[in-house]
Amino acid sequence: MADTPSKEAWSSRVGVILAVAGSAVGLGNFLRFPGLAAQYGGGAFMIAYFISLLLIGIPIGWAEWTMGRRGGLAGFHSSPGIFYSIVKHPIGKYLGIFGFIVPVMVYMYYVYIEAWCLGYALNAATGTFSQPGVNFGDFFANFTGTKQDGASIHFGLHDVGIFVLIVYVFNFYFIYRGISRGVELVCKYAMPVLILIALIILARVLTLGTPDAAKPDQNVLNGLGYMWNPKDIATGLKNPQLWLAAAGQIFFSLSVGFGAIITYASYLKRKDDVVLSGITAASANEFCEVGLGGLITVPAAFVFLGVAGIVGQGTFALGFNVLPYVFSQMPAGEFFATIFFLLLFLAAITSSLSMLQPGIAFFEEGLGLGRKPAMLFLGLVTALGTSLVWWFSKDLKALDTIDFWIGTVFIFLGGAVLIVVFSWVIGIDEGIAEAHQGAEMRIPALYKPVMKYVTPLFLAAIFVMFILANVFGWNFSFADAKFQPTGYITDLIGPNPSDSARITFGFIVITIIFVALMIKLAGKRWDAARKQGGNNS
Ligand code: TRP
Repeated sequence: MADTPSKEAWSSRVGVILAVAGSAVGLGNFLRFPGLAAQYGGGAFMIAYFISLLLIGIPIGWAEWTMGRRGGLAGFHSSPGIFYSIVKHPIGKYLGIFGFIVPVMVYMYYVYIEAWCLGYALNAATGTFSQPGVNFGDFFANFTGTKQDGASIHFGLHDVGIFVLIVYVFNFYFIYRGISRGVELVCKYAMPVLILIALIILARVLTLGTPDAAKPDQNVLNGLGYMWNPKDIATGLKNPQLWLAAAGQIFFSLSVGFGAIITYASYLKRKDDVVLSGITAASANEFCEVGLGGLITVPAAFVFLGVAGIVGQGTFALGFNVLPYVFSQMPAGEFFATIFFLLLFLAAITSSLSMLQPGIAFFEEGLGLGRKPAMLFLGLVTALGTSLVWWFSKDLKALDTIDFWIGTVFIFLGGAVLIVVFSWVIGIDEGIAEAHQGAEMRIPALYKPVMKYVTPLFLAAIFVMFILANVFGWNFSFADAKFQPTGYITDLIGPNPSDSARITFGFIVITIIFVALMIKLAGKRWDAARKQGGNNS
């Protein structure tokens, strides 16, 4: 764009890889993944998970890196702009809506959890969790306000309030500093520190042995076995919910398909490699997820609490109720709890930064805002959403509602649109040739048919199952079919509607309409610029 001020770029090759890896490695790796793997019984889940990695994560990742670099060369850094530069039809720009909505709206609740991490780290460091008689369940409920709406709008050490504010300041400060002096800088330090902390905690967990001699079964080996021993693989793989969970986890964890990578990659140069970088960032994420996240949380909980400590615990309960207890039972527990929550916080902030940049880029190039006004605007929009999440904290209803509709449904749609545009609109041959420009590794030939047919079909199949299961509540029995709308639907249409879910859903719908209107406006600017002789580069 002629009048876009941003001439931002990554300062180094390692920088961009660390930033994408930083985006990927997040709460998904250390809380969501272990929770899901344990819930679905290890072995079978891992098969579906690795198939999804090969069929969704890696190919869509490559497509996104390639499209991002291409969009950047045409002068665009936001998903609507990049899609419009590729799909020249007026509809083109709207295809990019997912790459704005998903990161911006996931940010709204993700920072809320990021604030928990920081708050828990500070509480661990100041000894809150080692006081005699502390009840971890009550602490969590009070800290996050799960008992009553509005209950967490307090600002003491034992409330989330002050941490929400701090986390907002951090995020916007580093975004304000820009790509290389902000995002890249944070990731360059946070990523190695995070991995170091994870290794220290891992060493601690793996040497726990059998802490309670009276319960010899609760030992580390059994804890690992609980997580990883293959059980009932055949029945597991027949369960559609397991496939949905595995595919959804791949999307969420790798941050592929919905705006983060496309924007980051748009700051690359023409000859910068995307193929090897893409696979490197994905491998880094898998190392942290399977190799670190998968070996810490669940075995630790198992050793101290047995199966009861894991089964039926939601993802958050595992991280924020069970683990503080587990640490309090270890020697030097305060220290390990502190660094564990610090680790979560570092993982979270490198991810949340990647959710802001796509929004900033759109306001800059779509609405012609300067960097500061763009930040301010995005700050207001996201703060509105975070306020909803923060206020409607009873049962974390608002958080859960956005996580389902945006953090799951929209993520699937965005990923599907992206791979279809790459393989069918750009065309698979041209797409792969473009990916190979400057590449230090070739995309294996097998991926041509995969990206063209298998990935879109796999996604379509998963998505249909997903809607059938989670919206219509089908039990997947043909003989004895039952449909029972799930909570996400009954919350909205009754019989027992939830006001907070309705308001949150309304907020989502209004946001989508609002963003669509802004994209329309942006389209006018881009059309005008194109007419002026297409000086888009
Ligand atoms: N991948 C991150 C995690 O595992 C989450 C994440 C990062 C994300 N960027 C995103 C989710 C953009 C949605 C949109 O925690």
